[in-house]
Amino acid sequence: MDPKIMKHTKSLVNIALWLMVFITLPTGVCGQEQKKVSAIRSGELWPDENGQHINAHGGGVLKYGDTYFWFGEHKAEHTSNALVGVTCYASEDLLNWRNCGVALSVTDERGHDIERGCILERPKVIYNQVTKKFCMWFHLELKGRGYNAARFGVAVADCPEGPYKFLYSQRANAGMWPIEFGEQEMAVIDTLDGANYKEEWTPAWLKAVAQGLFVKRDFGTGQMSRDMTLFVDDDGKAYHIFSSEENLTLHIAELTDDYLHHTGRYTRIAPAGHNEAPAIFKHEGTYWMITSGCTGWAPNEARMFSASSIWGPWTQHPNPCRGPKAEITFGGQSTFVLAIDPSPLTSKYIFMADIWRPRHPIDARYIWLPIEFEDGKPVIHWRDEWEIGF
Ligand code: GAL
Repeated sequence: MDPKIMKHTKSLVNIALWLMVFITLPTGVCGQEQKKVSAIRSGELWPDENGQHINAHGGGVLKYGDTYFWFGEHKAEHTSNALVGVTCYASEDLLNWRNCGVALSVTDERGHDIERGCILERPKVIYNQVTKKFCMWFHLELKGRGYNAARFGVAVADCPEGPYKFLYSQRANAGMWPIEFGEQEMAVIDTLDGANYKEEWTPAWLKAVAQGLFVKRDFGTGQMSRDMTLFVDDDGKAYHIFSSEENLTLHIAELTDDYLHHTGRYTRIAPAGHNEAPAIFKHEGTYWMITSGCTGWAPNEARMFSASSIWGPWTQHPNPCRGPKAEITFGGQSTFVLAIDPSPLTSKYIFMADIWRPRHPIDARYIWLPIEFEDGKPVIHWRDEWEIGF
């Protein structure tokens, strides 16, 4: 070939190659900005700053300074067991998130409470204004024991993204009765005996559960503690809200001033009502709680409760979800309600839920929807996409 033509062809090939590289190059590398996320699209992939789907499931959000920190379960490709730990992402606009890495890491120490392969779910972080510590609570199941341990775990850090230091895990409120158990309730408790119920799920068994059959059974060792959230009230008091009593009854337990232990004061919500996935917020003096039923990874109809005191009484309301798949929480399960203050939204609450993918856990999706009020009650309308407006 004529060397001139060859040179020309070579440079054309070079240009073509460069073009191909630029066209196929994923954004977010070589200083190229990852396309900004401009709206919330529940159920879709949610890319972080590097273009990776956010991996923070069953999570919650904490605002510290001007930054929101999203904590959640790291999910692997083929197992929901904890192979990594709790992840943390940061954002100023709630749409575009930076991956801050692993906030609480599982360990390879054999027999450790958070040994790699344990089940570590629904982590939540609250900030203690007095101790200046970030306090993380989560649901923990010891490695190799399925869901039998039913414990909560606590970890602490000096900065929001961690690293968090694991403190301890245990069952809740051993040796303590719920605050509403007076003389009358205790007289009933004295008569309850698991041996009297050959069959579960009968009306008589459910009545006994509601009266405290499992509270009594677990009195000495501590109450079971699974799906959970944390809530800090306006007065700085914090509470741990969790599924207890074989997931049949929710407990709300007061935390010590350092947010690292229970005080021993707790109440039961919807005894024998079979609620999981609690998410709570307070609006104009009323506490609202959204929960799910107990169908594992499969979605079911959301439930809602309200109370004018955290200690109850709690009243149940109909399902707050509206729109397609409202009867199965749009395919998801509640995890958290984020209150934004000040908020560019008409409502300042965002309902957060997970669409689980048990066969491909890492691909689980998120539902984030605004909570609006109709006739004084929260409602959640499905939206394919919406903007927060920061
Ligand atoms: C769900 C629960 C999840 C996880 C799952 C395991 O009901 O909300 O956090 O524990 O069960 O099947």
